[in-house]
Amino acid sequence: DKWFANQNRLAGKTILVTAGGTREAIDPVRFIGNRSSGKMGLAVVQAALAAGAKVIAVIGQVQVEFPNHPNLMVKKVTTTAEMLATTAASFEKADALVMAAAVADFRPAVVADQKIKKQISQDELTISLVKNPDILATLGAKKNHQIVMGFAAETNDLLQNAQVKLAKKHADYIVANDVSQVGSGFGVATDQVTILQPNRAPEKWPLLSKQEVGERLINILAKRWQQSK
Ligand code: CTP
Ligand code: CA
Repeated sequence: DKWFANQNRLAGKTILVTAGGTREAIDPVRFIGNRSSGKMGLAVVQAALAAGAKVIAVIGQVQVEFPNHPNLMVKKVTTTAEMLATTAASFEKADALVMAAAVADFRPAVVADQKIKKQISQDELTISLVKNPDILATLGAKKNHQIVMGFAAETNDLLQNAQVKLAKKHADYIVANDVSQVGSGFGVATDQVTILQPNRAPEKWPLLSKQEVGERLINILAKRWQQSK
């Protein structure tokens, strides 16, 4: 398909991509984090750049390097609150948001301003957590022209759980990933995902490299814009 090989098919579009994991401080030397590598987000960024788009990448903790590219702006963040503020600041100028980041759902209710000493807690330490804002749900509710794509990492009841996220977060697409499956999810090079859309049957993709998943996700956006021309 010639059109899919067109390296300028996303010219004029701006894709906002979040990647990696957010971190929440417990005290000056400790944090709560997650195992996200940033690979999926990077794959989406690379595919979008290859298709001629401008890309704004809001990245938390990652284990991969983002390229130097004239069409790529990288904004580094640490916490969920920072990721929300930074992503929201670019949302209006974006044509699509792809929320590939693994966002910390909770943060410590208080951040100790000095290192917590083990003596004070004796044999047990309890850290109270409060819920973080949901970036995808917040921006999904504010979308006007943007296409909004989220992910769902599930260990059980994949389609049911992902369907709830699709509706609750006002997403146009949810990329559902069964992370209990060997070869799919955190840290591995491949993913077997199912694409959910409102009022459409779920579409199960084969086991693909993260790079191929990224390319197919960008093709979904390109096709949609092509059709609305
Ligand atoms: N997400 C977000 N803000 C949060 C939590 C998640 O924007 N505070 C986004 C993720 O980037 C992803 C989607 O929402 O695109 C689903 O994330 P996931 O962790 O699978 O779902 P949650 O809604 O957090 O529910 P749970 O972790 O309980 O399954
Ligand atoms: Ca979560």
